[in-house]
Amino acid sequence: MSSAMPGMMELMQRAFRAKTAIPGFNIPYLPMMEPVVRALRDTRCLGLIAVARLEWMKFHAGGIGPVFEEYERVKDERFTRLHLDHVPVIDEDQLLVDYEGDLGLAVRLGYDSVMIDASRLPLAENIAATRKIVDMAHAQGVAVEAELGAVLGHESGPMPPYEELFASGKGFTDPEEARRFVAESGTDWLSVAIGSVHGVITEKRKEKKIEARLSIERLDAICAAVNIPLVLHGGTGIRKEYILESIRHGVAKINVATAIRQPYEALLPESLDKAREAVYDRTVRVIREDLELEGTADIINPLT
Ligand code: 13P
Repeated sequence: MSSAMPGMMELMQRAFRAKTAIPGFNIPYLPMMEPVVRALRDTRCLGLIAVARLEWMKFHAGGIGPVFEEYERVKDERFTRLHLDHVPVIDEDQLLVDYEGDLGLAVRLGYDSVMIDASRLPLAENIAATRKIVDMAHAQGVAVEAELGAVLGHESGPMPPYEELFASGKGFTDPEEARRFVAESGTDWLSVAIGSVHGVITEKRKEKKIEARLSIERLDAICAAVNIPLVLHGGTGIRKEYILESIRHGVAKINVATAIRQPYEALLPESLDKAREAVYDRTVRVIREDLELEGTADIINPLT
């Protein structure tokens, strides 16, 4: 990012204050990146190009370096920033990850923000791991996202029935824990569990995603406790009225992966060009219709 451009800490604060949101689009295949950048530019929406560790482990994103190189080639700093999504301390297969290595590399290369996901650890260990990454990233001016609570979906085992999960509130972020977590870890943004689930990444990944709901009551309680930008993962398939309401109640970043990955995978056997155009069309539709975020760059990142 060039020094004249505002960084991600500032941009997220602006989105949070304006009660709008920055979408993060995940790129599990490098050829998806250019059409997503084009869609952001054409809708004048400020968004993040994002890659999660599982997208170079289980899909074809290439890795932290290849994603950075492709981003440098196609970026448009009026409308885009680069984010390293989910680097877990323990991954979805319960294996330990060299998270400091991955996050350190992204910070050195020049990613604008990074996410440490220690949410599978007990609270004190989640705080300690996040604090370490915050200190390392802040020394280079890079913003940090962390997660508290259990946003399910990526785990290899079967998921409990959704309605049961939602009704019980099991795994939802606890406001008092969130208060302590933010104060002690120093994270810039917090990913919260309030009812959304991640898209499936196992052999069932071609199926339509369940329609999730959100507990706006829980979101309000968390927001009042921490007063920092909150992040909604599992952005595909959440009922629209809940998404719009969540943006008015503290969610300043929404992650979207499945919605733009499925059309790419469906059309790729036919032609790469068609697959890329399907990504463009779907990204425009998500920004315009599902999230109603067209034109937000003019509010969050205006030309001075
Ligand atoms: P979806 O696949 O449900 O859009 O979730 C994306 C996500 O949260 C990536 O971190």
